Amino acid sequence: MSELRKMTDWSKLRDMVESTRLDDKSRKVDETKLLDHLNSRVKGQDEVIKDVAKLINLSWRKQERTRPICSMLFLGPTGTGKTELAKALTEYLYGSEKDMLRFDCSELSSPDMAKSRLTGSSSGYKDSESGGQLTRPMMANPRRLVLFDEIEKAHPLVFDLLLQLMGDGRLTEQSSGKTADFTQAIVVLTSNAIADEVGKAVEGLTDYHEIVNAVKTLLAEHGTFRPEILGRIDKVYMFKPLQGMIIAEIALLKIERLAKEYGLTVEFIAPELLMQALEANMKVSKFGIRELERILFDKFASHMVEMREKRAKAVSFDIDEGGQIVCRYQGPPETPGPKK
Ligand SMILES: Nc1ncnc2c1ncn2[C@@H]1O[C@H](COP(=O)(O)OP(=O)(O)O)[C@@H](O)[C@H]1O
Ligand SMILES: [Mg+2]
Repeated sequence: MSELRKMTDWSKLRDMVESTRLDDKSRKVDETKLLDHLNSRVKGQDEVIKDVAKLINLSWRKQERTRPICSMLFLGPTGTGKTELAKALTEYLYGSEKDMLRFDCSELSSPDMAKSRLTGSSSGYKDSESGGQLTRPMMANPRRLVLFDEIEKAHPLVFDLLLQLMGDGRLTEQSSGKTADFTQAIVVLTSNAIADEVGKAVEGLTDYHEIVNAVKTLLAEHGTFRPEILGRIDKVYMFKPLQGMIIAEIALLKIERLAKEYGLTVEFIAPELLMQALEANMKVSKFGIRELERILFDKFASHMVEMREKRAKAVSFDIDEGGQIVCRYQGPPETPGPKK
């Protein structure tokens, strides 16, 4: 230790470690900061985000847990930010988006697949040694958000495992007898299957709590979710279809992110260029924005590479009379050529 003492400023380091938002001892989440973070990544779902931040803050503070920190169900049309919100939560609460474990339930539609993927094959079978792709990562690091996408497509066996996971906060691998702990995890289930029906059921309702109640009633009647599962879910959230200006804002966010990947900042983009991208997106998906990223990439990436090669740092994208992109940039001054 004596040598290590000189290696850094220990008192400063201690302050920094102790003030880390993730230090579990504090059992606190700064709700305002969490909300800011979620707002910076997820647009147009303000009520959802506000309530999620509140729920997380309250559940995170519990002293003793025998169940996951919280279990949530995200409902709504595809491409409205359900996965994005799960990622943003993971990034803020656990430190990195990589700590999210994601399962596509359409791949868990047979009992064999469900079991081998989640808790590992039975002993004697191929791969039974390696354990489950859910249980093993949880054993290695129990601080994770676990996302089950398109939950309605899962085999009933998945629901049995989920009941254990959400009810007891643990899952045991049959083949190895090892147990994974979920009491520091957040569970998110998503579904867009009955989005249309849900949409109709809440038409005309404006009060958010009224909406959530109508949805819960519908889910129970519909039989998509067994009552025991619904009973284990702390909250159901409804994601709204995205409005035009929100999609425009997301497009700007995505351009900013893309530019960052090329080491650039964007100072200005002509609205006409954004409109071109939004219209192209409208053609392929009426509400969703799954294609938006690809469209923006096709439109801007080559220009960004070109700008980067000119050693640009800050760039602007304008439009000429023919509707083509005109790039302007600021960068280092042109290096004068060799003196003659
Ligand atoms: N409300 C939103 N705010 C910001 N980005 C969004 C939003 N909705 C969708 N996106 C973007 O669109 C893509 C698909 O969104 P995703 O969250 O995966 O949709 P889904 O609701 O189907 O899970 C992601 O790249 C995400 O960045
Ligand atoms: Mg998704």
